[in-house]
Amino acid sequence: MIGDEKFSNFSKFALLLIVLAFIVGTFVFLASEVDLLAEGEDSSQADAGEDVVLPEISPEETELESLIYERTSVRDFRDEEISKEKAARLLWSTVGITVDGISGPTRAAPSAGATDPLVVYLSVSQVEDLSSGIYRYNPEENKLTKVVSGDRSAELAQAGLGQGAIGEAPLSLIITADFARTTDRYGERGERYVKIEAGHAAQNANLVAESLGLGGVMIGAFNDQEVQQVLGDISEEPLMIIPLGEKE
Ligand SMILES: Cc1cc2nc3c(=O)[nH]c(=O)nc-3n(C[C@H](O)[C@H](O)[C@H](O)COP(=O)(O)O)c2cc1C
Repeated sequence: MIGDEKFSNFSKFALLLIVLAFIVGTFVFLASEVDLLAEGEDSSQADAGEDVVLPEISPEETELESLIYERTSVRDFRDEEISKEKAARLLWSTVGITVDGISGPTRAAPSAGATDPLVVYLSVSQVEDLSSGIYRYNPEENKLTKVVSGDRSAELAQAGLGQGAIGEAPLSLIITADFARTTDRYGERGERYVKIEAGHAAQNANLVAESLGLGGVMIGAFNDQEVQQVLGDISEEPLMIIPLGEKE
């Protein structure tokens, strides 16, 4: 019968399609299992709770990453002068002037609402062509103003709970802040912003120090009032002392 023959041809065709679909489905399943379809793990398909393996990186491939990789805290320094140029570079890296922002020049470290609360002091013990003392950094004019004469590194070390690195270093950066500049705009939350900014500025100095072959350490343990006195009875609050020098 012609009808039976048509039906039988249709059945054969349908069966063939089912077999083909099964073969293709099996292949796709196996291929995905053995990563034939995806090169490596397809992290975009990760479900919550699953791990994603990151690509291996070599930090030494870029200069900045190398500096981050190489930096470690250094607490012993060679008994050697630091050049004034290196001191200038270190100061610049904290709150120095950079490219023109929307409303004027901006700074080396980001600042919440560009309120710029940080004030950086320099304690000089052995810097070429710069007499010992405490200086206040003026980034707008790229100048230092001497506020206290004479080597104050021993007193600063004393204020720093006797930490030898401060007394030994040829120079120390002291990052202080006028909190009101930021809290006037942001209220209590501004206090958090100021401390975050001090971290930005300090790490910039650390990395620039590393690039100049210098070493240093973040010092957060000190007596605030004593540090303020050593710096010339300043009103700003000290947040970080960073003694720096040539590595031993
Ligand atoms: C906020 C802060 C405060 C720190 N205070 C001190 C300190 O008072 N004295 C000190 O010797 N190191 C201090 N450090 C340095 C840490 O001890 C040091 O970064 C840490 O041991 C990790 O070692 P690394 O810097 O070599 O990676 C401080 C670090 C930070 C970030």
